[in-house]
Amino acid sequence: MVNSLEELRKHCLECKQCPLCETRNNVVFGTGNPDAQILFIGEAPGENEDLQGEPFVGRGGKLLDLYLNGIGLDRKENIYIANMLKCRPPKNRDPKPDEMDKCLVWLRELVRIMRPKIIVCVGRISAMRLISPDFKVTKEHGIFYDKNGTLMMGTFHPAALLRDPRKKGECFEDFLKLQDKIKELGIKI
Ligand code: URA
Repeated sequence: MVNSLEELRKHCLECKQCPLCETRNNVVFGTGNPDAQILFIGEAPGENEDLQGEPFVGRGGKLLDLYLNGIGLDRKENIYIANMLKCRPPKNRDPKPDEMDKCLVWLRELVRIMRPKIIVCVGRISAMRLISPDFKVTKEHGIFYDKNGTLMMGTFHPAALLRDPRKKGECFEDFLKLQDKIKELGIKI
């Protein structure tokens, strides 16, 4: 059994379980602190992420960093960030259900190894897959759900905030709730 994220990453880099392996430049496994107790899960790599091999490095990623830094979190030190899909869907289309099914194997292993106390779903795609199939970001963002001892919360995707900046305030409120939860759980930052 694989017992470290580094080992898991090595296996993941070889993955050929779905056709996205043929069009990818890089597998985007995830980045951050492997010992963190907070895991952020986005949707799928975009163009920049595919080229650089890291999640959330484009404009949306800069916005995500602003929110993280706003509550005293640093993406390299205090959290781990991954996506539902490790490879970029062509033209950034939505992930297909069978791609997510196959790729979920990696995420399950990541969660098994990390055992995060909090998972933040960034955007509807990960919230619908991991929290509830009928998750509505506009109604349920910022609410923590206990799933077998792990607290899960969904918030807006930064790309949605770039399209509609009026949601930025509500999104930052979610991050403030996250900050409260981190304190409540006694997670050391
Ligand atoms: N959008 C995501 O959901 N993840 C990324 O890594 C980049 C953009």
